[in-house]
Amino acid sequence: MSDTAKRSAKLTIDDQSIDLPIYSPTAGPDVLDIRKLYSQAGVFTYDPGFTSTASCDSTITFIDGIKGELLHRGYPIDQLAENSHYLEVCYLLMYGELPTAAELEDFEFRVTHHTMVHEQMMNFFRGFRRDAHPMAIMTGVIGAMSAFYPDSTDVNDPWQREVASIRMIAKMPTIAAMAYKYTIGQPFVYPRNDLDYASNFLSMCFAVPCEDYEVNPVLARAMDRIFTLHADHEQNASTSTVRLASSSGANPFACIAAGVACLWGPAHGGANQACLEMLQEIGTVDRIPEFIARAKDKDDPFRLMGFGHRVYKNFDPRAKVMKQSADEVLELLGVDNNPILQVAKELEKAALADPYFAEKKLFPNVDFYSGIILEAMGFPTSMFTPIFALSRTVGWVSQWKEMIADPQNKIGRPRQLYLGETSRNYTDIETR
Ligand code: SDX
Repeated sequence: MSDTAKRSAKLTIDDQSIDLPIYSPTAGPDVLDIRKLYSQAGVFTYDPGFTSTASCDSTITFIDGIKGELLHRGYPIDQLAENSHYLEVCYLLMYGELPTAAELEDFEFRVTHHTMVHEQMMNFFRGFRRDAHPMAIMTGVIGAMSAFYPDSTDVNDPWQREVASIRMIAKMPTIAAMAYKYTIGQPFVYPRNDLDYASNFLSMCFAVPCEDYEVNPVLARAMDRIFTLHADHEQNASTSTVRLASSSGANPFACIAAGVACLWGPAHGGANQACLEMLQEIGTVDRIPEFIARAKDKDDPFRLMGFGHRVYKNFDPRAKVMKQSADEVLELLGVDNNPILQVAKELEKAALADPYFAEKKLFPNVDFYSGIILEAMGFPTSMFTPIFALSRTVGWVSQWKEMIADPQNKIGRPRQLYLGETSRNYTDIETR
């Protein structure tokens, strides 16, 4: 971190003043260094939900929420979605630069040759009911991975950190596909080294032993693009969960399992499933005003899923790419007259024209269109968040590696504004 503060802020509380250093980033808002606030002034800051708090410094991803810009190591997401592919973006996020041809070939070889999982992990799946949500299975199986791969759990060994990172990126699609196959009662399909990352995932999900499976290259491209669009996103809730879990020195598999669990929530990665279910509930364009009214009603807990964002106060650039991809995929599949897509487009138009959403700067986010594509590709809604989780694994892993290597790394331990009882004496039950 650049500890060279060029200026500072003076904080005066009662008759005491302290200087708080201000650091300037390469992009985004300045930060106020409050690390000495409690020791010097005896007060905490108060920021539930961390709306104004930088938890770390990072060089991986930057979001300009006003402009609606998302950069991975400085490269705009729309350029990466158009010109790159997921494993190349993984290399960029992990190592900081776009790879040469030789570097990319080596990276893809290493990932490809780690896609199988320990054969005994299959027994672990069989402990779940068939109707278990795939995210429940993934949270359990990923948390158990440290028991199957104990040789890459020492976070103080850079080589083991590298092996764990490659294993996570390589094995998440296999585990997600196994969770899907298990819930539909079909046999697991092994990964194939002759297929690219996205094609391999489609094969593990949709191939059956009774016939050859041919991957549709357009669907594979769309799948790869969805992986890229979900790869990383600064210090979102699940990434912050992974960082907090790893700050205690927990093994990488346990930390990623914590991230998967956090992502599952409907306010976060679970929104893609909730959004498609909302669009299905709306059903027809004529019911849109009813749901817009509900979303605006303070007494109704209903919110437009796939809308709004803590950081974006403009279009989420990923949503723009996703919307274009939805048109392409549905046209290819001959379902471009899909009523749900029409409802989504009309809902977006109605919401953006409504002062409530305009004033609160609520725009479609990454989850608004992704479910439409995934459903058209043949995935059930329960697989939407697992696909988000496997895509985001590289972001979690990259941020985890950055944090572990940071000499400032220490256990995360927030304080609180305590409003409970002050000290009082125990009373016997007879006297209560
Ligand atoms: C992801 O952080 C990330 O980067 C996440 C993510 C990533 O890649 O990691 O981008 C992925 O999680 C995208 C977001 C997916 N979630 C949803 O689509 C669920 C619906 N959206 C909302 O729940 C909400 O917008 C959040 C959770 C996304 C953001 O919540 P904030 O930042 O805490 O905003 P807020 O709840 O304070 O909302 C501000 C105002 C409120 O009204 P007031 O209290 O000021 O009157 O806007 C309203 C909210 O009621 N509002 C909505 C709304 N979202 C916010 N009203 C109706 N519908 C919505 N969707």
